[in-house]
Amino acid sequence: MTRAISSEMAAMLGAKMPFFAFLTGSEWARRAGEPGICDFVTGEPQEMPVEGYAEALARWSAPQNPHWFGYKTSEPAACAVVADSLGERLGGDFRPEQIFMTNGAIAGLTVALKAVTDPGDEVVFLSPPWFAYESMIQGRGAVPVRVKLQAPRFDLDVAAIERAITERTRAIIVNSPNNPSGRIYSSAALTELSSVLEDASASNGRPIYVISDEAYSKVLFDGRSFFSPATHYARTLLVYTYGKTLLTPGQRMGYIALAPGMPDAEQVGAAIFMSQIATGWAFPNALLQHAIADLDKLSIDLAALQRKRDLLVDALTGFGYELTIPEGTFYLLVRSPLPDDMAFVDLLVARDIFVLPGSTTELPGYFRISLTASMQMVERSLEGFQAAAREAEQVAEAGAGAAF
Ligand SMILES: Cc1ncc(COP(=O)(O)O)c(C=O)c1O
Repeated sequence: MTRAISSEMAAMLGAKMPFFAFLTGSEWARRAGEPGICDFVTGEPQEMPVEGYAEALARWSAPQNPHWFGYKTSEPAACAVVADSLGERLGGDFRPEQIFMTNGAIAGLTVALKAVTDPGDEVVFLSPPWFAYESMIQGRGAVPVRVKLQAPRFDLDVAAIERAITERTRAIIVNSPNNPSGRIYSSAALTELSSVLEDASASNGRPIYVISDEAYSKVLFDGRSFFSPATHYARTLLVYTYGKTLLTPGQRMGYIALAPGMPDAEQVGAAIFMSQIATGWAFPNALLQHAIADLDKLSIDLAALQRKRDLLVDALTGFGYELTIPEGTFYLLVRSPLPDDMAFVDLLVARDIFVLPGSTTELPGYFRISLTASMQMVERSLEGFQAAAREAEQVAEAGAGAAF
């Protein structure tokens, strides 16, 4: 019998998503929302929304003309706000007509892949990755090519990327600040990447694009700077979402910005627009676009987020955990005291602490803590983290003893 579903969706379903399996089938799936647990699994909001957010939506929900809630693509006023904001933040001449408003980064990434890759093209992504890249690439009918980054820093490994490039390579997805490592890629590394991609594009006779996932580009710690591939490599599609900076992932707004000076920008822009239509009208709704000038100025309390990071980093290090101190993002990546991260996660669950096992994001032997948990959860969890580390030590000692 022929398959009952499309080959694209069959490919996506075939790309096992252990992350989804965890979200739907784990003990956390059964207990999420229970009062008293310490929930560090996802980047979902667990405290009240940013002040000014609801007020901005209320203000802009009063219609100012008959078209207020009409069909919207990329509203010129919204694109102008984004171009100004990017120019101010990153430097460079971002043009309003080269901004494409999307309903979040998920749509932005999907649209970007559809606009510049063909089925059969190779798309490089870096591991440990955000969970959806591989299936998004497969969903496009393209071929995912994984490049593993080295613990504990998980820096951009340009030499490894260069080795992974073939004549079929069409794009590379770069995510900085990185989920899950929290690493911000340096300007020097991006310059090196740019030169490798320029050379490879020239020898392939066909451009390689960077699809730059900048979901966390405003979630930075310690006063650090963020460097965008878009100001280093002109064939960059910069993808952003307001869902992280405002911690409102259920409100879908983001954009794709073409890098200043992108060659063939008009053609690429037209392909993005068509791809947005073909992807099911991948534009943010009218109200979000009307409110963007107000929303763009808002942010979650980064100092409060950093306080949670600092408390956890200090406490966990004191308990003997090894970890990568994040430079940005919502996440703290910790080495599991037991080689089997799933087994260690169970020791935490027994203490009502829920974290994301590294096995779900191609990083067995680690676990990820989301700092969007409340400060109360952070404080309440410390005793449990300490006790679980002690128990893991005993388990490891007993295991070592049994081996002799
Ligand atoms: C690295 C990364 N990219 C993209 C997204 C998707 O963002 P959004 O849901 O706002 O589109 C996420 C969400 O967790 C993410 O962590």
